[in-house]
Amino acid sequence: MFLRNAWYVGAWATEVGRQKLLRRTLLDEPVVFYRREDGTPVALADKCAHRHAPLSEGKLAGDNIQCPYHGLTYDPDGTCVRAPGQSTIPPGCRVDSYPVVERYQWIWIWMGDPALADPEAIEDFHWMDAPGWRAKGELFHLKANYQLLIENLLELSHLSYVHKNTLGTEAVAEVQMKYERGERDVTLTRWVMDSPVSNMFRLIGGFDEGEHVDRWQLVTWTPPAFVRLDVGAARAGTGAIKGDRSQGFGYRNLNAITPETEKTTHYFWAQARDFRVEEEWVSDLFVDATHEAFSEDVWIIELQQANMDAGTTPDRVDIKHDGAALAAIRILNGMIKDEAGSQSNIRSRIAAE
Ligand code: FES
Repeated sequence: MFLRNAWYVGAWATEVGRQKLLRRTLLDEPVVFYRREDGTPVALADKCAHRHAPLSEGKLAGDNIQCPYHGLTYDPDGTCVRAPGQSTIPPGCRVDSYPVVERYQWIWIWMGDPALADPEAIEDFHWMDAPGWRAKGELFHLKANYQLLIENLLELSHLSYVHKNTLGTEAVAEVQMKYERGERDVTLTRWVMDSPVSNMFRLIGGFDEGEHVDRWQLVTWTPPAFVRLDVGAARAGTGAIKGDRSQGFGYRNLNAITPETEKTTHYFWAQARDFRVEEEWVSDLFVDATHEAFSEDVWIIELQQANMDAGTTPDRVDIKHDGAALAAIRILNGMIKDEAGSQSNIRSRIAAE
């Protein structure tokens, strides 16, 4: 159901501290996040080895965490280092410790084989904190499968309908996208030329009401569930399509999607820009406008999931606009299948030995 050998975003860095232990379910596993005394983050299985009480309800003792029920204490590697009332630690007393890295304002977590966790493989989200850039975002909770959100972000004709009062205009759905499937990525390009500006772009970009713009949406998906968009608009006919964006503005919409369970999802997103970076009100305006637009996505995707769960659900019918989303889901499901296959091969080998 999930790709395990992969980095996911587990939390905003600001969510993880020493005052409050953060419990979050990721890939169907409860995890507790906290920080060591030197500030580095820790992620452990939030299930005590003794009677499975949640460690997140316990307390920190230096770099260690103490279970709230009978006081067993675990170090950041997940090893039990104290069992009250006895001088020895019960054999095998430990909880899983997950590799974590703090990068790009987020805490990244690896929930597969720890030996394979290479921080170099973390997806590039440098716009989140690179010099000259300003990024701000949120975490949405979605009551739907994470793949529905991937499809949503790769199938932009819905802008004309779901977001008709925010991001969309009628022209978006009428223009075909071009997409390319790589071995492990999908890129999607759409230019909507000489069309009326959307409300949100008018607000942020300083265009006049009804003004015509050339609008771009350049989208990249990488597995398991990262979607980065380079979006923007420039006054119509001023050469943006050839690379001159001086008569418009663009920004990055950055999305990191992490499955919570089969039917619920953590949706981390941010808007990053390299213009007017000192102006807080622009960040707030950006985030508020995007919050409104993404709430519209949450609304339709949760209805979609609820409807899929009700009654009988026939096979899906595809339309032309689905191309990029279908390609991404095929790559992802292929990787999940390969991973499951190699794990079952390992299990059979061990059983045979
Ligand atoms: Fe944690 Fe007993 S359940 S110490």
